[in-house]
Amino acid sequence: MNIATQNPGEFSTEEPVKIPDGVFAETVLEVEHYTDTLFKFRLTRPQGFRFRSGEFVMIGLMIEGKPLYRAYSIASPSWDEELEFYSIKVDGGPLTSHLQKIKPGDKVLVRKKPTGTLVNDALIGGKRLYMFSTGTGIAPFASLIRDLDTYEKFDELILTHSCREVAELQYGVDLVAEIKQDEMLNELFDTSKLRHFTSVTREDYPVQGRITDLMESGRLFEELGVPAINPETDRGMICGSAAMLKDTKAILENFGLVEGANNNPAQFVIERAFAE
Ligand code: A2P
Repeated sequence: MNIATQNPGEFSTEEPVKIPDGVFAETVLEVEHYTDTLFKFRLTRPQGFRFRSGEFVMIGLMIEGKPLYRAYSIASPSWDEELEFYSIKVDGGPLTSHLQKIKPGDKVLVRKKPTGTLVNDALIGGKRLYMFSTGTGIAPFASLIRDLDTYEKFDELILTHSCREVAELQYGVDLVAEIKQDEMLNELFDTSKLRHFTSVTREDYPVQGRITDLMESGRLFEELGVPAINPETDRGMICGSAAMLKDTKAILENFGLVEGANNNPAQFVIERAFAE
């Protein structure tokens, strides 16, 4: 199978490209570009490919005859027949400069063995789940907010998404609106439990500022009409840049929350955003 399809001729070779062992070559079904730097795509799901909502997997392309992979959170829920991903486009980025050109019908490589800590299993139950994201860090939460387990485990799901510019919020805005209108999802769980809090740092917007500053000032809780974070009731998941993870983790620890893991569930968990 020749999977070198991005620009006709750009990566094509005379010989068909051999898919490495232990890797699925999945078909692109849909691509949606949000900004010059952000896009989403959906792939066929390999038969027998199992994952827990919130996990990530290595995906890639054959580039000049060699596979190149990066870790991507799976943005679709574990029950979905298709796989969804949300990606940045980096000029000159080894993978994303190619990946951003995919079209329906093209093939993308998906490695086996998804993994990750942003999963319901790594948290003990609670009243309120905060999902703190910046940029493409919203992707694992796009999976979790479509998963029945998340709604069963928590009374309130608060997705926070902070970006530099307003246009970067669109994927999350569209997704939350779709979830709330989706008849099938509304039969499965109470989508009114889901709340979406957005802030922007480099443009005018009703709520401006970094999520960390908004937590420290208390503005986040005022806007949501909830008490400040309390280890008795609140749980957290964090996904963003390394600096955002570090700063948000420190704030949750100041509120008294303890970090958990798959083998040791506790009150919050973190995962790196998988930017190039
Ligand atoms: P800012 O515009 O003030 O840098 P990035 O694309 O750099 O990952 O940033 C995405 C969003 O995350 C931006 O709104 C950015 O704010 C914010 N951000 C960057 N670093 C941190 C941090 N250490 N803590 C909280 N938010 C951050």
